[in-house]
Amino acid sequence: MANSRSGDSMTERIVRVLDTFTSERTMQTASEIARRTGLPSSTAHRIVGELIEQGLLERDEENRVRLGLRLWELALRGSSALRLRQAALPHMEHVQTLVREHTQLAVLEHDEALFLERLSHPDAGANITRVAGRLPVHASSSGLVLLAFADPALRERVLAGPLRAVSRETVTDAVALRALLITIRRRGFVVAPGSIEQVSTGVAVPVRDRGEVVAALSAVLPREAPTEPVIAALLDAAAAIEEDLRTSR
Ligand code: PHB
Repeated sequence: MANSRSGDSMTERIVRVLDTFTSERTMQTASEIARRTGLPSSTAHRIVGELIEQGLLERDEENRVRLGLRLWELALRGSSALRLRQAALPHMEHVQTLVREHTQLAVLEHDEALFLERLSHPDAGANITRVAGRLPVHASSSGLVLLAFADPALRERVLAGPLRAVSRETVTDAVALRALLITIRRRGFVVAPGSIEQVSTGVAVPVRDRGEVVAALSAVLPREAPTEPVIAALLDAAAAIEEDLRTSR
C-alpha cells in the first residue's frame, strides 16, 4: 500500500476520511472533510471523489457528502452484529408489547456501547440513544452490563478513567463503579436511574452466545416507572435470544 509523505497508508487515509462522519455530523462538504482529516486538500478531495465513484460515499444536490448505502450494505453482510440483531428483534418486539417504552440492543465496541437496534413506542419518554450511535460504558445501563462482563483488562482501562459525568447521577467514582460492576455480575442485571438523563432509568441484562456475553438488552423507562416487570421481561427475552443464537449456529 503506497504511503504518503507523513507515513500513513492509503487505508489509514481512507479511514480518516470516513471517521469524520459522526451520528451528529452526517453531511459535510469535501473541503470540511479535508480540514477535519488534516490531509492535504488535494489528497482529501481525491479520496472523497474515489469513494463516491465506488459508492462508499454519496453526494447530494447541494454538493455535500454523506456515507453511502453501499458502505452500510457491505458492513452488514454476514456481520456478527446482523446475526445478533436478527436473533434479538422478535424478542425485542415482545418486550416492547409489554413495556411500551424503548427496547434496545448494544454491543461493546472500542470501550463504548454501540447500539445495533432501538424500538420505541410512539408515546415513549425521553431517550438519547441512536441506532449506530454510542454511549459511554460507565454511564448507560447497556454499557454497565457490557463492562461488568468484559475482559478484566478492558474493565481496568475504563476504571482508570477519566469517568466523565453524563448526568449528575453518573457514577464517576472508580471505587463505587467497581462495586456496582460486582453487583451487576452477581445479580445478572442493572437498574441505572438518572445515569444518562435525570428523567429516565435504564434497565439492562446480558445476552450470551457460547457462554460469552456478546450484547446487552435494555429498556429505557421514565424515571418513576416500576422496574421489576421490566427486569423479568428482559431476562426472559435474553434467554429466548440465547436459545435462538444456539440453534442458528
Ligand atoms: C441507559 O441505558 O441507561 C439510558 C440510555 C439512554 C437514555 C437514558 C438511559 O436516554
